[in-house]
Amino acid sequence: MGSSLSACCSSEKVDEERATREIGGGQASWRIFSYKELQTATNGFSDDNLLGEGGFGSVYWGKTSDGLQIAVKKLKAMNSKAEMEFAVEVEVLGRVRHKNLLGLRGYYAGADQRLIVYDYMPNLSLLSHLHGQFASEVQLDWKRRMKVAIGSAEGLLYLHHEVTPHIIHRDIKASNVLLDSDFEPLVADFGFAKLIPEGVSHMTTRVKGTLGYLAPEYAMWGKVSESCDVYSFGILLLELVTGRKPIEKLPGGVKRTITEWAEPLITKGKLKELADPKLRGNFDEAQLKQAINVAALCVKSEPEKRPKMKEVVDILKGYEAKARLTPLRMESVRYKEELLALDQASDEEGDGEADESNNGYGVFSAIEVQKMQDPYKVLGERRTAKYR
Ligand SMILES: Nc1ncnc2c1ncn2[C@@H]1O[C@H](COP(=O)(O)OP(=O)(O)OP(=O)(O)O)[C@@H](O)[C@H]1O
Ligand SMILES: [Mg+2]
Repeated sequence: MGSSLSACCSSEKVDEERATREIGGGQASWRIFSYKELQTATNGFSDDNLLGEGGFGSVYWGKTSDGLQIAVKKLKAMNSKAEMEFAVEVEVLGRVRHKNLLGLRGYYAGADQRLIVYDYMPNLSLLSHLHGQFASEVQLDWKRRMKVAIGSAEGLLYLHHEVTPHIIHRDIKASNVLLDSDFEPLVADFGFAKLIPEGVSHMTTRVKGTLGYLAPEYAMWGKVSESCDVYSFGILLLELVTGRKPIEKLPGGVKRTITEWAEPLITKGKLKELADPKLRGNFDEAQLKQAINVAALCVKSEPEKRPKMKEVVDILKGYEAKARLTPLRMESVRYKEELLALDQASDEEGDGEADESNNGYGVFSAIEVQKMQDPYKVLGERRTAKYR
């Protein structure tokens, strides 16, 4: 952890000047807020202001005295884990600056409270448009979906390859892609981010993230690398073009991943049937094929066979039209039953549409799964059966 971070988290009185840093040649300015200021802005963290709740805290809409609309994330519990989340988030946010990444507006660090302040994104999250309160309005037409796909891929490309040290996000999912007034996507939530030291190709870590988006090698063995984000991006892309949830609970209680649903349709060449029915046939067929191709590459079970984000961006932009694109097949992934059992969100899912604040979309709040102890011995045979 950098020294600036230890300063910010250990003391309430941080010199505001130190909070304004030169990043990438531009001014990335964020400041320290007082608790009172954020309390007033959010109407006392009122339920009416609640935008939603995640695994680690609640997010409130607010307006500062100078008229700026903000989103304030109030971390749930101040234990050492929450402290670490906060520390990582502030450290990472302070480093990044990209049009497709949600930067930091400021924070408050008190004795028993941690608050993170972001710009408020008026079109909320991709989740709210695909499966939440805006889903029926279908504001996400095909063009916007492609813009969301390319923009979020560019944000990830920056994290993986342009910022130093490289950053693995580890929680790419629809609720962490926010949409500005112009439907430009901004990837949010770097609390899970992992800073990668120079020259390290992968690390082993406790598994954090959201089940439907987790790469198999990460879910099972905690093996984390940039390609875990690439996998999650593939799931996000499939979700974006199909309007399906990463894991669905079928009648009878069986849970099915989006890749299990898509694989047979792709194999039979029924690509048009993959497009979100809400689009009513209004999509560009070539782009749909391109997007499904990219998703199929991203969700390959072997991490080294997945593309880098640069290739993903190039294909989505049409720069690399023929590259690696034939024959079109998708590998489907089925998580182990123990992991699926942790997926409480889809267990609670009803038939109707859920309210964004209760997290009930059949996508998952953050989970933390203890790494399996001797994966090769215990799971080797099963892995062969399920993933190859
Ligand atoms: N800057 C923002 N503008 C508008 N809505 C936001 C903003 N930041 C977060 N939200 C919304 O608030 C809700 C809660 O966000 P939060 O990040 O706490 O949880 P999450 O993304 O659902 O899960 P996780 O804890 O795994 O990230 C989400 O629906 C998110 O899209
Ligand atoms: Mg989030």
